[in-house]
Amino acid sequence: MSGSALYETFARAPLAFDRGEGTWLVTDKGERYLDFAGGIAVNSLGHGHPHLVAALTEQAAKLWHVSNLYEIPEQRRLGERLVDATFADKVFFTNSGAEALECAIKTARRYQFVKGHPERFRIITFEGAFHGRTLATIAAGGQYKYLEGFGPKVEGFDQVAFDDIEAAEKAITPDTAAILIEPVQGEGGIRPVPTQSLKRLRQLCDQHGLLLIFDEVQCGIGRTGKLFAHEWAGVTPDLMAIAKGIGGGFPMGACLATDEAATGMTAGVHGTTFGGNPLAMAVGNAVLDVVLADGFLEDVQRKALLLKQGLAAVADEFPDVIEGIRGTGLMLGLKCAMPNAKVNMALRDQHLLAVPAGDNVIRLLPPLTVTDEEIGEALKRIRSGAKGLTNAIAAEAAK
Ligand SMILES: Cc1ncc(COP(=O)(O)O)c(C=O)c1O
Repeated sequence: MSGSALYETFARAPLAFDRGEGTWLVTDKGERYLDFAGGIAVNSLGHGHPHLVAALTEQAAKLWHVSNLYEIPEQRRLGERLVDATFADKVFFTNSGAEALECAIKTARRYQFVKGHPERFRIITFEGAFHGRTLATIAAGGQYKYLEGFGPKVEGFDQVAFDDIEAAEKAITPDTAAILIEPVQGEGGIRPVPTQSLKRLRQLCDQHGLLLIFDEVQCGIGRTGKLFAHEWAGVTPDLMAIAKGIGGGFPMGACLATDEAATGMTAGVHGTTFGGNPLAMAVGNAVLDVVLADGFLEDVQRKALLLKQGLAAVADEFPDVIEGIRGTGLMLGLKCAMPNAKVNMALRDQHLLAVPAGDNVIRLLPPLTVTDEEIGEALKRIRSGAKGLTNAIAAEAAK
């Protein structure tokens, strides 16, 4: 017991930050950390971005909350902008990624229901997936460690192996409503799904009358160098859950849908108190102002290459620590050759923040606004960390 009043559900690092400046976090003792964790892909524009701060404070001085009983102009505007920028025709705003997924799951089931197929409620998902911590989303993710002890698993999710499209096809039954997939798995260990597989899933859904749902909560909003990761594959879903980066640190999410997929979501069938709140909407619009500005995403792609090439060189130099580099854009993973927790600690000792993921990977998720100099500094710190670990292995072997 820590003696804290808080649930003991988080294994927190013994670090508390007082403020943030772009890609940097500063402790109350004035120690500076280079933030390549980005609040787990949330701080898309770093800390204290002036445009976001202005948007939030201006809105805070005007109006905080009215509920969805009334028109919320900033919500309408953000919805229209997301529609203009994507495959979608309709948007439902939420407070989190899990809620965005809940909305997508409900929308898919409801679609089949109103189309005369109430029996079609099952959703096919993939091993290693992470879709959130609500009862339905832990069932969708299918990971025993998140399901254990929480009573019967919510019915209706069928999981197949990662990127096993043949197995997904075999798993389709007359009760299947949809297929749900992260185009790039985040928590699962930065695993991009091959373009061909996404294309095949689209075909399967069309063939069988299923909805294709993408979870871009982690890989969306410019993270891969396109506004959404699926754009690289040239495949569009029927439904998509987003969150994290769209709020740049302000809690929000959204479920995006085609008109057809949203057919069943009529007045009263779904709702939220806080989703689409004016504060969140002001920030979401401000994030889009920056991410959709001319040249922004191209610059993310350029910087991503710089980081990936630098990481590949470090991996080549220290193969006992880093086995390989994976991922795309500014969503990169170090596949570790030793326990990833150890590597994470070594990076933290270098005052570089990163995030462990499944499959023994360390995630690097810097703000999309990271500079070339900061990338150079991060590479220097990763190299020092890897060198220290390699030296420790050699010292141990010499004993
Ligand atoms: C791909 C993906 N989906 C859903 C979620 C759940 O989002 P939230 O924690 O905001 O509920 C996460 C969170 O890490 C995620 O990475």
